[in-house]
Amino acid sequence: MNSGMIALVGIDGSGKTTQAHRLADELRAEGLDASYRRNAGGRHWFGVLARRLGRADGDALLGRRGMLLVEAVLRWLAILRTVLRRAFAGGLVVMDRYAFCQYASLRARGAKPGAERFARLAYRLFPRPDVTFFLDVTPDVAHDRIEARGYDSETMDYLNAARAAYCSLPEARDFVVIDANGTPDEVSAAIHAELARLGVPARGRNVGGMILAGGPVVAALAVAGHQLAEAL
Ligand SMILES: Nc1ncnc2c1ncn2[C@@H]1O[C@H](COP(=O)(O)OP(=O)(O)OP(=O)(O)O)[C@@H](O)[C@H]1O
Ligand SMILES: [Mg+2]
Repeated sequence: MNSGMIALVGIDGSGKTTQAHRLADELRAEGLDASYRRNAGGRHWFGVLARRLGRADGDALLGRRGMLLVEAVLRWLAILRTVLRRAFAGGLVVMDRYAFCQYASLRARGAKPGAERFARLAYRLFPRPDVTFFLDVTPDVAHDRIEARGYDSETMDYLNAARAAYCSLPEARDFVVIDANGTPDEVSAAIHAELARLGVPARGRNVGGMILAGGPVVAALAVAGHQLAEAL
């Protein structure tokens, strides 16, 4: 496989960033044109900004609905950049988070169903990954890791809700579930074993088609963005 898209999703602290970097490095070491891509929604940096301004986190700074809207837009832009770059440059991309993370975030944070409908409308432009790994970690393990990491924090309530939200997504039936409670080496070995088992096909993307499809979606986004803000 020397082209395609591999996505890693899962709750905060499940090890997505660790494993996505590692996988891209290992695939490159095997001679593949692989790159790591971060599809951040801005919560980390808004959290840093919020703490500088004396607030607890991005939700406290922008409000729950405001932060969800900012996250949805920033992640949409990040994925668009990644997808377009890959369409033109080719190669294999390892995605640290993907659209599914936004749907899970909306569910876990109690957004109204209309908000997810609009997010799905906006994100439908993007292709399905060839394989999506769900790094499944128990919330208390994730909580310990986040505390040890030390730059942010999540409540057990949120981590439980987030895991339930991922599992409730319609796309979850296509996720390849990886037990992410083990050591980084064990998790990495499980990912490689699944990649070998699946033999994910290499295929190019239709850039022209994607851009043609993107036009109406971008146009709809302006309207949807306003309605999303109303629906959250
Ligand atoms: N398998 C593991 N065992 C123990 N610690 C781990 C493991 N994987 C990652 N870590 C550590 O746990 C912390 C969280 O990992 P990481 O940042 O990769 O998670 P994440 O899923 O990207 O989290 P977020 O959603 O908040 O970005 C980091 O400090 C990382 O070094
Ligand atoms: Mg991360």
